[in-house]
Amino acid sequence: MRFKSVKGMQDILPEAEPYWRQVTATVQDTARRFGFEQISTPVLESTALFSRGVGEDTDIVSKEMYTFTDRAREGEQGESLTLRPEFTAGVMRAYIEHGMSSLPQPQKLYSVGPLFRREKPQKGRYRQLHQFNAEIIGSADPVADFEILLLSYSIYMELGLKNLRFQINSTGDPDCKPKYVAALKEYLAPYADKLAPTDRDRLQRNPLRVLDSKERETLPYLENAPHIIDYLNDDCRNHFHELLGYLDAAGIAYSINHRLVRGLDYYTKTVFELWGEGLGAQAALCGGGRYDGLVELLGGSPTPGVGFATGLERIIMSMQDAGIQPATLERPDYFIAYHGEAAKREAVKLITTLRMAGVGARVAFGGRSLKAQLKDADRMRCRYVLIIGEDELAGHTVALRDLSKSEQSSLPMDQVVNALKQRGHMAECEKRVD
Ligand code: HAM
Repeated sequence: MRFKSVKGMQDILPEAEPYWRQVTATVQDTARRFGFEQISTPVLESTALFSRGVGEDTDIVSKEMYTFTDRAREGEQGESLTLRPEFTAGVMRAYIEHGMSSLPQPQKLYSVGPLFRREKPQKGRYRQLHQFNAEIIGSADPVADFEILLLSYSIYMELGLKNLRFQINSTGDPDCKPKYVAALKEYLAPYADKLAPTDRDRLQRNPLRVLDSKERETLPYLENAPHIIDYLNDDCRNHFHELLGYLDAAGIAYSINHRLVRGLDYYTKTVFELWGEGLGAQAALCGGGRYDGLVELLGGSPTPGVGFATGLERIIMSMQDAGIQPATLERPDYFIAYHGEAAKREAVKLITTLRMAGVGARVAFGGRSLKAQLKDADRMRCRYVLIIGEDELAGHTVALRDLSKSEQSSLPMDQVVNALKQRGHMAECEKRVD
C-alpha cells in the first residue's frame, strides 16, 4: 500500500524552502515595522465560532469546512470542532477571551499559518493553504484601513511584485446595507429564472454574493445593477472617500469595483482585493476589509476592526511567474570525513565543538570508505572537507581539503574551531568588498 497526500493538500519540498523563508521573513519583518505583534491561535476552534463569525450562508461555512465531533466524556455530547478556514474569527475570539480591549487600542495583530478549506483544488487553490493575516482592532479611523492596504502593498513591493492595483469597494453598514440589498433584489427579480442556478439560490439566501458571480449566464444581468456606493449613508460615504484620499496621496493605484463584495459575511464599509497578474480574477493575491460588528457578534463589546489576509502559496506563485528568485540559503561549508572507529569518535567530538561554536558542518554517516565520503561531501555541495585519518589521529591534527581547488592543509586539532571561524570572518569581509 502506497500512501499519497490528501487531495488538495501539498507537500512543501526543500527546493521551495528559499521562497517560503523569504516570504515568511518579509511578511513578519514588514508587519513588525508597521507596529504589529504576532498572535498565534489554535488550528482547531469551536464550529459555532465560524458559523456565527463568517456566516452560515457563506461558501466557506456551508461547503468548505473540515468539521468533526470531538470524543465525548461519558454522559456528555461531543463538541463540534472545525479546522480553522480563516484567521479573523479566531483572532477576535482571542481578543475577547484575553480582555485585550483593556490594552492600549488599537491592537495590531498578525498571524501566519495553515488553514483548511474543502475547495475544488486548482492552480493556486488548495485545501490546506497558508496565510499571513493582519488585523487592526479597536479603531474606526479610515487611516487604519489605509494602513492595512499599505501593509499589503509594502509586502508585495518588498518581494519585488510590481504592477499591482487594488480593487476596492464599500459594503456599507447595518443601516445602509439593507437598503442596497433590497434595491439589488428588486433589480434582479425580473431576471431571477435566467440567472445561473447557484446565483438563483444566492439571490434567496445571500443576494450580495450574486454581484461577484463568475457564472456566464449571470454576468449580462449584472452590468446595469445598482451600485452600493450610491446607497451609502453619510458616515460610510465619508469613510470611503477619506480612505480613497489617503490612497491617492500615497500614490497607491486602485480601481473602484462595484461588484466586489467578498465571500465572508462580517464585512462592513471597506472591502478590497488585489488580483495578481497570471493568477486571474478567480485567484486573488489578498483580500480584506472592515468588520465593525464582528467582535460584538462574537460576544465582545462593540469594537471596530479592519484587516486582510494574503495566501503565501499565491505570493510564491506570483514571484515564480514574475521570475523573481529568492535569496539563496546558507548550507554548511564543512564536511567531516574519517577513517576507522577511533577517528569516527574524534569526528563526533569535532562536529559537536564546531556546532557549539556556530560553524555549519555535516558529518559522514555509515562508516563508508574515505573516497565515498569525499564524493558525498561534493554531492552535498560542501566546499571543505575536514579529514581525520590514521596520521591525523596520531598527530592530533585535521586535514582541511578545499574541494574547489583540490588543495589540502593541516591544522592542529585544538585550533580547528578558531581557524575556521577566522576563515569564515575573512570570507565575509571578501563578500562585503565584492
Ligand atoms: P479570503 O479572501 O478568504 O479572506 O482569503 C485571503 C487570501 O487567502 C486570498 O486572497 C488568497 O490569497 C488566499 N486563499 C484563500 N483561499 C485559498 C485557497 N483555497 N488556496 C490558496 N490560497 C487561498 C480571509 O480569509 C479573511 N479572513 C481576510 C481578512 C482578515 N479580512 C479581514 N481580516
